[in-house]
Amino acid sequence: MLLRVENLSVQIGSITPLEGVNFDLDKGEILGLVGESGSGKSLTALALAGLLPLIGGRIPTGRLLFDGADMVPMSRSQLRALRGRKIAFVTQNPMTALDPVQRIGDQVDFVSRTHLGLGRKAARARTVELLTQLRIPQADTICNAYPHQLSGGMKQRIVIAMALSGDPELIIADEPTTALDVTVQAQIIQILTTLVRERGLALVLITHDMGVVAQACDKVVVLYAGRLAEQRQVNALFGRPAHPYSAALIGCIPREGMAPGSLVGIPGAVPSVASYPTGCRFHPRCTNAGAGCSDIVPELRSLDAGGAVACHYPLPGIENA
Ligand SMILES: Nc1ncnc2c1ncn2[C@@H]1O[C@H](COP(=O)(O)OP(=O)(O)O)[C@@H](O)[C@H]1O
Ligand SMILES: [Mg+2]
Repeated sequence: MLLRVENLSVQIGSITPLEGVNFDLDKGEILGLVGESGSGKSLTALALAGLLPLIGGRIPTGRLLFDGADMVPMSRSQLRALRGRKIAFVTQNPMTALDPVQRIGDQVDFVSRTHLGLGRKAARARTVELLTQLRIPQADTICNAYPHQLSGGMKQRIVIAMALSGDPELIIADEPTTALDVTVQAQIIQILTTLVRERGLALVLITHDMGVVAQACDKVVVLYAGRLAEQRQVNALFGRPAHPYSAALIGCIPREGMAPGSLVGIPGAVPSVASYPTGCRFHPRCTNAGAGCSDIVPELRSLDAGGAVACHYPLPGIENA
């Protein structure tokens, strides 16, 4: 197992906006991390990338096992070394990752020169090859360009090239295409997932697009209001979601008398950290809520094929799984 996340919590000052996150990921697998805005996706990503210190966050409980070694007790410099070399992070805004006054080629070269120790020429050859694989036309010319000369889609490909350039084992991509228009988004996700598969890398892909999850991912982690709602193999989740929140995200609640696809969007909003409901945090919005939901926190229970759900009244069809 390349990555094992055990009971991960994140604390920032006096608040704990994320708790009880569990999942694992093997080489060659793509995991989709989903949930509405404010669910805790980015905090999970920052934790995995060892970047919590940047926002003053820490991990009070839980373990993050990468290749068997727990990242939680690691020092900042140990985390930095791991992040450069084995774990790469792709943010949703390419301009935060690119230096506006440095040529594209130099920026991508820097990663393989630093982390793989390549010389100038070898690094440039690697950069051109990567940009070409990412279907950037005239890659050697683009190397001489500055970020502002490129479109948003091109810039995001460059950021992905930088992530791949250090030859990482795990890529964390936090909504890598949200800033782009829909057709470009689809292309980039397709190129990224193909490269990940070809190279046998592991990818944690944060997205709000369940269509992307269905198409590109092997596993899914559904977060709600800073807690794990459900984690499943992708086919299991889409075929028989157990958590009413997952079902709502997919866009249909499989209940008798209700046509599939009849519930689009979920009424209400994710509560803020200051006003998390007691019990199951989803209960005020849940169509399946019953006794206990408003005061007892649901424990994670195991499902088929390593899946798990945190719900007192999971949807039917899972008991004999
Ligand atoms: N730096 C921070 N300080 C305080 N609270 C934060 C910080 N970053 C995120 N949060 C809170 O943690 C929760 C989860 O945030 P985030 O992981 O950014 O959600 P998502 O990426 O799913 O939209 C939110 O309620 C948010 O307000
Ligand atoms: Mg986010």
